[in-house]
Amino acid sequence: MTDGHAPGDPLAGLPVLEDLPELDGRRVLVRVDFNVPLTSPGRTGQPVQVADDHRIRAALPTLEWLGARGASVTACTHLGRPKGRPDPAYDVAPVRARLAELADGVELLDNLRFDPGEESNDPDFVKRLVDGFDCYVNDAFGASHRAHGSIVGPPQLLPSAAGRLLVREVEVLGGLLTGAARPFVAIVGGAKVADKLGLLRSLLRRVDRILVGGGMAFTFLAARGHSVGASLLDGDHVDDCRRLLGEAGDRVVLPTDITVLSPDGDLADGAGGTGEVRAVGLDVPEGWRGVDIGPATARGFGAVLAEARTILWNGPMGVAEDDRFAAGTEAVARAVVDAPAFSVVGGGDSVHVLDRLGLADRVGFVSTGGGATLELIEHGDLPGLEALRQAPNAPRGA
Ligand code: 3PG
Ligand code: MG
Repeated sequence: MTDGHAPGDPLAGLPVLEDLPELDGRRVLVRVDFNVPLTSPGRTGQPVQVADDHRIRAALPTLEWLGARGASVTACTHLGRPKGRPDPAYDVAPVRARLAELADGVELLDNLRFDPGEESNDPDFVKRLVDGFDCYVNDAFGASHRAHGSIVGPPQLLPSAAGRLLVREVEVLGGLLTGAARPFVAIVGGAKVADKLGLLRSLLRRVDRILVGGGMAFTFLAARGHSVGASLLDGDHVDDCRRLLGEAGDRVVLPTDITVLSPDGDLADGAGGTGEVRAVGLDVPEGWRGVDIGPATARGFGAVLAEARTILWNGPMGVAEDDRFAAGTEAVARAVVDAPAFSVVGGGDSVHVLDRLGLADRVGFVSTGGGATLELIEHGDLPGLEALRQAPNAPRGA
């Protein structure tokens, strides 16, 4: 390839900022992923604000690069999941206010998902979106697994490029797929096992061990014949989990003890949850709910991580937003940063815990993606990247 990347490398054929035509005085549309958490309204009488601006700051190098070349820059993003019509609950005004503080002079369009044409990738929507712009840049790594109008449409119509953040994400995550130092250990958590089965299968081809925690672990424990009480259980996927365990042998590591909450207990954000909390072995008593990995599991996972040279972590080990059940996720966070390994962390919940512990800057790379990170690792490519490779100015094979 003329751009120096081997075929099959997701960076191959991807146009970058330097591949754009002269920008001075031109109008550039930048798709960003500013789908950020907001503060809840009303509580303090304060206006709604951006609660975590990591995704906004991550796009600044691209916005600044374009501005420095004399371009007039307009950003566009989705926020939340409005149903294809304007909805004040998903107004980007708080995002626009934070962006104005961080990147003076960059405009932000209204929430893209206020128009049904965004999610349906309607060609008329795309035409309206790019009207008046000279170039398009995709720096929305976290949304590039969606074949939505603003992601896959503009490269068909305008000279286009991957922004700095998109390139960096693909470089780091793509590097894990090809050249990771060993042992390579993945930690996968979160609630929904169905969303993660494809990822687990694809990881098994590449990593030495997968540590499984979070709500998804209970479907695996059920597949091993344990009783899971009232824990999260995806009955439709017990067989898939059993098959995967059969293929993986001891490379998939499940919890050995569980922190459980009594049947009358309630979860809470922060403090204030109710009910009795205990650590039990692998069988959850009738009516009780598994809500975190137990202390022995946290130690065991820590010992595996201490030997790792590459770590990929996605998803919390328990209901970490309830202070009582953050211990497993926090122990994993500490083990990840203490390990002599290059560590990559993705997914809002895991990153949030790292931030809370002040450990985020001790991680090798914090991905801005959730689903996108997993999809890139699972499939080795994303719809947003494929679209950019088709742009009129994309580098072609020699
Ligand atoms: C995310 O937060 O994972 C991305 O912004 C994508 O959002 P979506 O899952 O609503 O498409
Ligand atoms: Mg998501």
